[in-house]
Amino acid sequence: MKKAYTILLLFVLSFGLLAGCSETSAANKDKVVTLRIAHNQSTEHPVHKSLVKFVELVEEKTNGSVTGEIFANGELGEEREALEMTQKGIIDITKVSANTVEGFEPAYTIFSVPYLFKDREHLYKVMNSDIAEDIFQSTKDKGFIGLTWYDAGSRSFYTRNDKPIEKPEDLKGSKIRVQPSDTLIRNVELMGGSATPMPFNEVYTAMQQGVIDGAENNVTAMTDMNLGEVTKHFTFDEHMFTPDILVMNTDKFAALSDDQQQAIKEAAKESTAYHKDLWEETANEAIEQAEEMGVTFHYPDKAPFEAAVKPLQKEYEENPATAAYFKRIKAMGEEK
Ligand code: GCU
Repeated sequence: MKKAYTILLLFVLSFGLLAGCSETSAANKDKVVTLRIAHNQSTEHPVHKSLVKFVELVEEKTNGSVTGEIFANGELGEEREALEMTQKGIIDITKVSANTVEGFEPAYTIFSVPYLFKDREHLYKVMNSDIAEDIFQSTKDKGFIGLTWYDAGSRSFYTRNDKPIEKPEDLKGSKIRVQPSDTLIRNVELMGGSATPMPFNEVYTAMQQGVIDGAENNVTAMTDMNLGEVTKHFTFDEHMFTPDILVMNTDKFAALSDDQQQAIKEAAKESTAYHKDLWEETANEAIEQAEEMGVTFHYPDKAPFEAAVKPLQKEYEENPATAAYFKRIKAMGEEK
């Protein structure tokens, strides 16, 4: 109900702004632009803190001519809905998982290819290269562009049952929640589990009620979403290092002055750098806190998990939307 009301309010605001824009443009020049920014984490999560930093930097760099209002906790909708609203310009900026963008642009699938990224260092190398910039611009005609990315750690399995997942066979017969992404569904199926796509905000109840046996995510989900309360085992199989992506409505960005655009780009990049240590700290703390909540962590041999999903890697190695990226990313991981 609250969400419906907020969305209605945003519609009204959008029309108000449009009407305002069609007035004399001179009158608008001195107006402060307030960007509506949405994400689905709590206000304690590193993503939220990095977005607060982003807004501060934007204000500073634009001498206050651009600011932002952050809507946390999925208040404006789950990730797919928020991205659709960003496409339409109802929301200006949203932070979503790259796995969510996959449904809008196939190039983003590269971030969900299991075991393509070897580790965090490999991810940073790729995300700081022209590959990421290229992918960020690939959706320009679809209504949004990528501004930057945030480290979201590695994704691993966690389960509510007594028996931990130590090898892919342990997933047999288990219902595992995945993000609504074809690649993630295939990933779980190839490992032997039964994939159940659902939005992030429904996972806690589904775990609690046994609608699913487990899910997969980074460790902050244990604490930020309180999933540690309904989880017994977390297995660091680290099947992917999917980053979060900060996207902005294409027209809204284009409507800003060159200086404002530059300021937003710089602020976004600087907030990513700010996020790096914050992420590491929070993820380490999350492990300790989750242990206190009763979660046991496991560090399995990853080779059998990787072997199970080889066919999926092969598909993306050959898929025209991802082949060139696949080759370069793999080579970057092998560089010394
Ligand atoms: C990560 C990611 C979120 C995403 C979530 C999920 O936590 O940062 O953006 O919604 O995974 O599994 O859906």
